[in-house]
Amino acid sequence: MKTIFSGIQPSGTLTIGNYLGAMKHFVDLQENNDCFFCIVNQHAITVPQDKQELKKHTRSLAALYLAVGIDPDKSTLFIQSEVPAHAQLGWMLQCVSYIGELERMTQFKDKSHGKEGVSAGLLTYPPLMAADILLYNTDIVPVGEDQKQHLELSRNLAERFNNKFNDIFTIPEVSIPKVGARIMSLTEPSKKMSKSSDNPKSFISMLDDEKQITKKIKSAVTDSDNTVRFDKENKPGVSNLLSIYSLFADKPVDEIEAMYAGKGYGDFKQDLADVVVGVLKPIQERYYELINSDELDQILDQGAEKANHRARKTLIKAERAMGLERKRR
Ligand code: TYM
Repeated sequence: MKTIFSGIQPSGTLTIGNYLGAMKHFVDLQENNDCFFCIVNQHAITVPQDKQELKKHTRSLAALYLAVGIDPDKSTLFIQSEVPAHAQLGWMLQCVSYIGELERMTQFKDKSHGKEGVSAGLLTYPPLMAADILLYNTDIVPVGEDQKQHLELSRNLAERFNNKFNDIFTIPEVSIPKVGARIMSLTEPSKKMSKSSDNPKSFISMLDDEKQITKKIKSAVTDSDNTVRFDKENKPGVSNLLSIYSLFADKPVDEIEAMYAGKGYGDFKQDLADVVVGVLKPIQERYYELINSDELDQILDQGAEKANHRARKTLIKAERAMGLERKRR
C-alpha cells in the first residue's frame, strides 16, 4: 500500500481538465492506497481572492471531490488551512529554498509576468506545495503535466533537507496520466484549459448543464479538414476533443477515430457532448445533494482530524531536525 497525496486549488469551479488530469485518477487510486486529498485554499490566496467566493469555492470543491467518487471511508479529504502543519513546514522549507530556483518556476513567471503587486506568496508557493506532500510521507503524487516542475522542486527540497538535517522525508514520485495530462482550451487549443480563464467558452466546468456543454463543444475550435484524426501538431483542436472523448467514454483514441471514419465533425461533436453529459449528470446530482449538507461538514471535520494527526508527527520530526525545539534530548 502506497501513500498518495494530491491537492486542488479552490480558485474557481473545476473544469473537465482538472477532472481528467487529476481527480478521475484519485478515485481509482483510493482502492488500494492510503490517500490524502486536499483543498489547497492557502495556495489560492497567493493571488487576490474575494473572501465570499473563496469560501464558496472551497465548499464546492469538497462536494465535487465526493461527488466524483472520493470515499471518506477510504481517503482523507481535508482543507489545507485546517491543518496548520502545512504552513509551518512550508515556512521551514522556504528557508531551505533559493530565491533563484523559485523565480525559475514557469507558473511563477506566467502568473507574475507584466503584473504589479505580485505577492511574495506567489513566489514561495512551491515550498508550501512541497510541505503539503512531505508531511504525509507521500510515495506518489498524481497530477496533470503543469505540476511536473513543482514536483521536481519538491523532490529537490526533500533531498536537500534530508542531507542537511536528518533523513526524514520520503522522496515522492510524480504520476502523470498518459492521456489527458494536459487538456487544452476549447477556443485556443495551444493553451491549457484553465479554471481561472476569463473566457467561459474556453472550458467546460464540472457544473455546466447539458445546454452549455453542447454549445461549448459545438463551438470548439477545430480545422477545415473535417476528418476525425489524432494529430497533435497539425490538428490540435480535434486531437484535444479526441482525448476528452477517449477519457470520458473509456475508449482508446484509435477506436474513436474508426467510429467516425467518413463522418464529419458535426456527428463527432454531438456524440462527444452526449458522452460528457452522460458522465457529468450523475456527478452533478450528487454534488447538489451534498453541497449544503451537514454530511459534508462532518466529512471535512473528520478529514482535518486525521490529517492533523498524521501531519503533526512529521512536523515534530522536522522541527527537531532543524533545532526548533526547546527541550534538550
Ligand atoms: P490546480 O488547482 O491548478 O489543478 C488541480 C489539478 O488539475 C490538473 N490540471 C489539469 N490536468 C489536465 N489538463 C488541464 N488543463 C489541467 N489543469 C489543471 C493539475 O495538474 C492538478 O493536478 N499546485 C497545484 C495544487 C497543489 C498540489 C499540492 C498538487 C498544491 N499542493 C500538492 C499536488 C500535490 C495546483 O495549482 O493545481
